[in-house]
Parts: sequence; structure tokens; C-alpha cells
Amino acid sequence: MGKPQRIGILSAGGDCPGINAAIRGVGKTAIVRYGMEVVGIASGFSGLLNKEYQELPESALSGILTLGGTILGTSREKPFKKSSSDGLNKPKIIKKNYKELGLDCLVCIGGNGTQKTANLLAEIGLNVIGIPKTIDNDVFGTDFTFGFDSALNIATDAIDRLHTTANSHKRIMVIEIMGHNAGWLTLYAGLAGGGDVILLPELELDTKAINRYLLDRAYKKKPYSIVVVAEGIERPKEFISAADYIASMIESGTRIETRKTILGYIQRGGSPSPMDRILATRFGSHAVELIAKEHYGRMVINKNGQTSSIPLDEVAGKTRLVPVDHSLIAKARALDICMGDKCDV
Ligand code: F6P
Repeated sequence: MGKPQRIGILSAGGDCPGINAAIRGVGKTAIVRYGMEVVGIASGFSGLLNKEYQELPESALSGILTLGGTILGTSREKPFKKSSSDGLNKPKIIKKNYKELGLDCLVCIGGNGTQKTANLLAEIGLNVIGIPKTIDNDVFGTDFTFGFDSALNIATDAIDRLHTTANSHKRIMVIEIMGHNAGWLTLYAGLAGGGDVILLPELELDTKAINRYLLDRAYKKKPYSIVVVAEGIERPKEFISAADYIASMIESGTRIETRKTILGYIQRGGSPSPMDRILATRFGSHAVELIAKEHYGRMVINKNGQTSSIPLDEVAGKTRLVPVDHSLIAKARALDICMGDKCDV
């Protein structure tokens, strides 16, 4: 086997700001530095199943650094999922198409699910490199994923805006932040936005203690309160959203007028922040350095500020949650922010 000459790239799972910056980082490094060809696979692993792709010459990579979303499209197709009812042997089809496209390596940009699939593809013999992305920042093995910083900026701005309207009406404002089962985005946005109560899936909730804390704030003549809640907190089945549950629990428990905001997909949209552009560029370029050295079966990471990589099989099937002893949780408690578990007054 000669040096890698032709690589495929796809984005899978939920989109986030910075994917195009990563595609550009991969593509430009591969084409300009190593003279490789780059093939863009459409709509995640679906494109590999249906052979939907486009050649990506260097000209196709200009002007995409600042673009949100993904020029390749994405999907949540999971080719190894057992419940697949269509009877197709999807891994086999993907392997065949990978060969027919003449690929020497496949770069998979995605979150935990994508890295798990990437590892399974590596196990059936494909050369694969993973690049972690998600606003949730929950990919195992890396301190940061791109998408997180952009979403953090959006969520913080939203919380900032709630302060003024909450103050005018002397209300409690509950804002629900994305993050799947992890509380990273809620913790960071809650702290950056000056939340009074920050509720994470990783910590147990004591609803009575939360209400006591909020009543105490009212008693101390604090005119309003901001409650930042992660979408993934545990709640009774009858509540569709975390915000619904927390707002109704607070209003009935404190009798203080309470309103809720679910920030939703706004957090995933738009142009990447400068930090995400840089992280995505670093990740993309590093992925190609690995390919050039034929170091396959790895995921690019950011650890202690440095870009490096770890084996995909160390990442696969794991999620990085906020450790309950995380220093930011301790700092929040030191500032008398209620973290939902023990915020007695
Ligand atoms: O993983 C990113 C994320 O936005 C999560 O925060 C959220 O739980 C999920 O994706 C939403 O997924 P979908 O795009 O399938 O609605």
C-alpha cells in the first residue's frame, strides 16, 4: 500500500458551529500540504450507504470557515444498529462503497455516536480518523469539542437578556439549556450568565431546597432570580421538558410568578465563535497529519490546551459527564449559587 492519496470526509449527528471550519482544515491541509484528493460524503453515514458524495477541490473550501451548519449535510444514520428493519447489511455496503470510491481513509466529524460508529468501521477494516464536535462538550477523551464555545456565547447572551426582563417584572426566570445528558453547557452558561440556580443532570435535585433558596432571595429583597436548567435533568414522566418541570415546581412551591424559556436549536445555529474556528482548524489539520503518518483508528483531542489523539476504541461507547467534584461546581457553591442538591439557606 502506498501513501494515502484520497480521503473521504463526513459529518454525522446533530450539527454545530465549526463543522465547516473543520472540513476546511482537513481539506486544505490534505490538498495543499500533501497533494491528496478529498471527497465530501453527503449526510453522514447515509451518504456512504447511498454513495452520495462530491469531489472537494480546494476551491470548494473557500469561504466556508465562518459558515454555520455543515456544507456536507448530516444525519443520525447508525449503520451498525441492530434494530435496522430493512434487512440490509449496512456495514458491508459501506465497506464496499468505501473501496469503490477509492478511499484510503475516512474522516468522521461527530459526537459520541459518530465516534462509536467510526470505531466499528475501523474494526471491520476501514482506515478511520475521528474529529469530535458537539455543543454538548461530552465526547470522552477531549477537554473541549468545537461547537461548545459558540453555543456558550449564545446561551450566555440569552441569559443576560433574561436579567433585565426578570428585574422589570420581579419574576423568576427558568431557562433550559441543551447538552443531552451532560451539564457542561448549563454549568458554563449558568456561571457566565450569572444564574442564581444552576441545575445539572449530574447532581441530585432537592426541589424543596431549591424553593427555600429562592424564597430566601425574595426575603433578602433580591428582586428576581434566574434558574438555568439542563435539558437532561431527571424529572417525572408527565413533564415533557426540564423547564416545564422546574418552572411548575418553583411556582407552586414559592408562589412567585415564574416564566420559562427553552432556548433550543438557536444554540446550534449560526457562525462559529473565533475559539471554535481555531479549535476546528487545529482538529482538521491534525487529522490529516495522522493520515499522512498512517496512524489510523484514532480520534483527535484537545488535552490541557494541546492537540493530540487517542485510539478510537478508548472513546467508543463512553460519555464525558461533569464530575460532581468539578472545580467550577465548587466555585459556584462558594459564590452561594444554588446547584440544586444542597442549597439550604
Ligand atoms: O448533541 C447536540 C444536541 O443538540 C443535544 O444538545 C440535544 O439533546 C440533541 O442534539 C438534539 O438532537 P436532534 O437534533 O436529534 O433533535
